[in-house]
Amino acid sequence: DLPSLAKAFADYFPIGAAIEPSHTSGLKAELLKKHVNMLVAENVMKPDAIQPTEGNFTWGNADQLVAFAKQNGMEVRFHTLVWHSQVGAWFFKDSEGKPMIDETDLAKREVNKKLLLKRLDTHVRTIVGRYKDDIKSWDVVNEVIEPADPDGIRASDWYKISGTAYIETAFRAAREAGGLDAKLYINDYGTDNPAKRDRLYELIKEMLGKGVPIDGVGHQTHIGIYGPDIADIIESMQKYSELGLDNLVTELDMSIYAWNDRRDYGAEIPDEVIKLQANRYRELFEAFKANKDLLKGVVFWGIADDHTWLSSFPMKRTEAPLLFDQQLHAKPAFWAIVDPS
Ligand code: XIL
Repeated sequence: DLPSLAKAFADYFPIGAAIEPSHTSGLKAELLKKHVNMLVAENVMKPDAIQPTEGNFTWGNADQLVAFAKQNGMEVRFHTLVWHSQVGAWFFKDSEGKPMIDETDLAKREVNKKLLLKRLDTHVRTIVGRYKDDIKSWDVVNEVIEPADPDGIRASDWYKISGTAYIETAFRAAREAGGLDAKLYINDYGTDNPAKRDRLYELIKEMLGKGVPIDGVGHQTHIGIYGPDIADIIESMQKYSELGLDNLVTELDMSIYAWNDRRDYGAEIPDEVIKLQANRYRELFEAFKANKDLLKGVVFWGIADDHTWLSSFPMKRTEAPLLFDQQLHAKPAFWAIVDPS
């Protein structure tokens, strides 16, 4: 009988998984109930899922996920109040339906900015208000750092219209609606990369200086079997903890390909690849355990290889980034972290 992942890590941190509503029944649900104590919506809490058009809030899928978690004694964390992707285009259109980014008149740009921030404020307060008793951990903004863009902030519509005011507005509204026990995270990928890590650090410092309530950094941690260095992942957590922030691993998976490799193993994943993956998972979790004071939880982006975003990104191909295989059986990587000796 397989040991439970969540129980194996009970003395360290909660173990989570991102799921779709369909995973709340059948074999997948049984696997989740046994192994995880934290759930995240892979898609159904994103802006375009919750408020596809202005004022039209659609709660059904999100409610279902929260109910499943409650029935099974699991925590829920929210992903994500703000993102440049999977967000309704209506947010960024002016009162005449024209894209706000096309506006050249300065006075009108100011009006548009106010309108956008007002919409954002409503979005955040409505959602946080609804779930504040059930959800204590929130991705407030997602992927706002882009070192290659001007000022190091992603040149999204949010930024082009409001500068960094949207980040401020989102955190302040979330704090007001959620209260002090809502943990508010800024979430991003590649946080081990020095350019990204440092720009994120500067942004957070600036925001904290203005009294913007940021509690923690969410590290997506979409990594691969060949990199990045585990030492860099931990170093970045240490750096943010110096600012008094929590760290959370929010979207862990481990691609079996190098990041720039466009091969497809198809049905024949080499044994040494699966072994390499197990060893790297072992090292990663040993490092997480050794740094448990910095780390509030580890959430996988999925639970088994039958369902992973990586099998369609960056291309359609066989992927196997998780601890359970296509048949929901434990892989060597599972045993490597549950029984590392
Ligand atoms: C992905 C989902 O897994 C896919 O189903 C969807 O089509 C696109 O988004 N970073 C994030 C997540 O913050 O929201 C993304 O999720 C994966 C990358």
